[in-house]
Amino acid sequence: MTQALDEIKIGGLGVSRKRVEDDRFIRGKGNYTDDITLPGMLHMEILRSPLAHARIKSIDASRAWDIPGVHLVLTGDMMATRNLAWMPTLSYDTQAVLATDKVRFQGQEVACVIADDPYIAKDACEAIEVDYEPLPVIVNPKQAVAEGAPVIRDDKENQADNVIYHWEVGDAAGTDRAFEQADVISRLQLHYPRSHPSPIECCGSIADFNRATSKLTVYMTTQAPHIIRAAVALVAELPEHMIRIISPDIGGGFGNKVPVYPGYVCSILASILLERPVKWIEDKTGNLISTGFARDIYLDGEMALRQDGKILGVRMRCDADHGAFFSDAQPSKFKIGLLHSTFAAYDIPAAHLRARGTYSNKAPGGVAYRCSFRVTEAMFFQERMMQAAADDLGMDQAAFRRMNFVRDEDFPHRTPFGFLLDSGQYRKCLDVGLKAVGYEDFRKRQEEARAKGRLLGLGISTMTEPLGAGNSREYDILGIKMFDSAELKVHMTGKAIVRTGARTQGQGHETTWAQIVSHELGIPAEDVVVEEGDTDTAPFGMGTYASRSTPVAGAAVAMVARKIRAKARRLAAHLLEVSEEDIEWELGRFYVRSAPDRGVTIQECAMAAYSNMPDGMEPGLENTAYYDPPNLTWPFACYIVTVEVDPATGVWDVLTTVAVDDCGVRINPMIVEGQIMGGLTEAYAMASMQFITFDAEGNCIGSNYMDYLLPTAWETPGFELHSEVVTPCPHHPIGAKGIGECAAVGGPAAFVNAVIDALSGTGVRNIDMPLLPDRVWEALTYRRDISGAPPVATDD
Ligand code: CDP
Repeated sequence: MTQALDEIKIGGLGVSRKRVEDDRFIRGKGNYTDDITLPGMLHMEILRSPLAHARIKSIDASRAWDIPGVHLVLTGDMMATRNLAWMPTLSYDTQAVLATDKVRFQGQEVACVIADDPYIAKDACEAIEVDYEPLPVIVNPKQAVAEGAPVIRDDKENQADNVIYHWEVGDAAGTDRAFEQADVISRLQLHYPRSHPSPIECCGSIADFNRATSKLTVYMTTQAPHIIRAAVALVAELPEHMIRIISPDIGGGFGNKVPVYPGYVCSILASILLERPVKWIEDKTGNLISTGFARDIYLDGEMALRQDGKILGVRMRCDADHGAFFSDAQPSKFKIGLLHSTFAAYDIPAAHLRARGTYSNKAPGGVAYRCSFRVTEAMFFQERMMQAAADDLGMDQAAFRRMNFVRDEDFPHRTPFGFLLDSGQYRKCLDVGLKAVGYEDFRKRQEEARAKGRLLGLGISTMTEPLGAGNSREYDILGIKMFDSAELKVHMTGKAIVRTGARTQGQGHETTWAQIVSHELGIPAEDVVVEEGDTDTAPFGMGTYASRSTPVAGAAVAMVARKIRAKARRLAAHLLEVSEEDIEWELGRFYVRSAPDRGVTIQECAMAAYSNMPDGMEPGLENTAYYDPPNLTWPFACYIVTVEVDPATGVWDVLTTVAVDDCGVRINPMIVEGQIMGGLTEAYAMASMQFITFDAEGNCIGSNYMDYLLPTAWETPGFELHSEVVTPCPHHPIGAKGIGECAAVGGPAAFVNAVIDALSGTGVRNIDMPLLPDRVWEALTYRRDISGAPPVATDD
């Protein structure tokens, strides 16, 4: 007789199983792009522009060609002869691969050298002489739209100014009416500064074109290998089946490894020309100044309020600085990503958002850094505005939020911008958070401390965000629909391999996807191997970003396992000699309903699939599922931070950080907690120290880790995590919602709100991030708001 299995013992759903991938990572056995060496491999280095805006008068590479060991020098003109000087971006714009006419940001790619080793290539880059004619520089939207501003994208026909788009969404007339009825109108303006995802591993690629087979294999640091394959096929006009993109282990992505970068394109062309493998590994400064910046958005909002605290309407305007090329990855129909997911957690009758995007002389921005297409900016503004509005009303921060939350009984809830929220228990999350932080008691202590000249503050951030793009009806990138996939092969001994179209970069998919299979089939998780990132073997998928893996690829894993179970049921009926209708399922086992002792395990079914299948049944036990989610998933989070600000220096210390995250069913609670801690660390970093800006000449300030600070374990405060609230996603096969980015999205406002709260009574409404001590000190001392918009000193 066979017994039902214990899900906990086999490492199924809800088990804090140790991450299987860590075995190789902590032993130094990871296999990153830079670890790969191919026979005959050459090395590529990139020459970057020192200027932010300049016309290229000439490029003389003759000295570089003469250096022994140099095989190829690529310049924009050479790329142009192959129609590759420019490439399309993921937002229907174009981006220079190597500059031909002008350079448009500091660090832009001007030429590449391919040599026997990276040192020769680097020296040869320095031997290239470029004659630049400097042009006036633009570093913010105000300058971009000023009278007489130089047109940055004069390469584009019909581009007479620096505006990329105007976009609006919501009900303008309804919102106007709400404002007419308001007792109080609250206003807030802020700048969410540029930040850089800054993964520890920089970008890189090894292109290997084999003339004999006509096959192009590219190892590269990409979060979305299939999208890269499609892009290479379309841009380089190579046959798609002859392109193999392999994304080996990735040392962090955070959105930085979604775009297509010139380095990838140049290494591919160089390999095709030289018929040898060409490796390009970016250095840290190259990564920090030229790849996928995030944010850089000016937000200006108004909230119409009734005296009792009810929000009647919200109006938002935003100016997004996209840098020199509009290259964000985002759904085609939304010009500014999902910024209009803002205020989704609150029941607001009317809202309107107007957005404008402009070019500037900075590297392309707008990348979704640990976020779903601009939701970080959306939630930051939302929670900063909520605090300002509660203060304007003289209302308690928690009571104001609770009063306006979408209520449990109102799901599914349609937001004024058209999103449909799936489920949630927002008040419960807030209550758990308030209890954990000792809210009432803290407010008393705050009063007492203030009487003694000590400044304590408490910041709340409560938010829901849309995770899991698609569905395919509404979400696409360049017309490619947003769904995802999983393939499951159960071998005859009951061991299995699952492949998905996602690509883990540290999130632990190798652990959690096996747990989903285990939950669905009863195969122990340790018997399931997970493989991602090879376009020759993985089914097509849109990749991993925007916390979409669990909502979409994870769902596909559950769905393919169910297909396998359906076939196994037919095999069980055959083995047990009963009809399928007489078969019942319990974890890992089918049995006869009328005789529960008569059963077969999933492993016995697997063996039968290859050795004893019924007549007419196709052999084997494998299948593929493409999952097109009916909706996004909407996790909820309540983050509460308390701080103490030193009035003499502006230094602020975090006293407590409480996080209550409801991401539906947790596949692996330990991994979920790791995701939350990582996100809170990034939130703290953005709020307190990460500063990457540009001076009036467009020089990037913060292009190294001396200036652009990443918090270590030393600076990072402790976090108290709560998992009491679980609201399953009603449309996800296992009830899970995404979690990867929640804390990085919702966390920054909690830290900033806490510091602003500590300054209450001074009239200070806003200090732009990062809240460096000198900014806090200046705000406190001169009782004024502090703008961090570049250039700080010279803006007029
Ligand atoms: O797309 P990405 O992997 O960055 O984000 P995610 O889907 O939110 O998942 C991050 C990690 O947390 C993955 O290993 C998930 O399987 C895990 N997770 C989980 O265990 N339970 C959830 N409800 C959500 C995610």
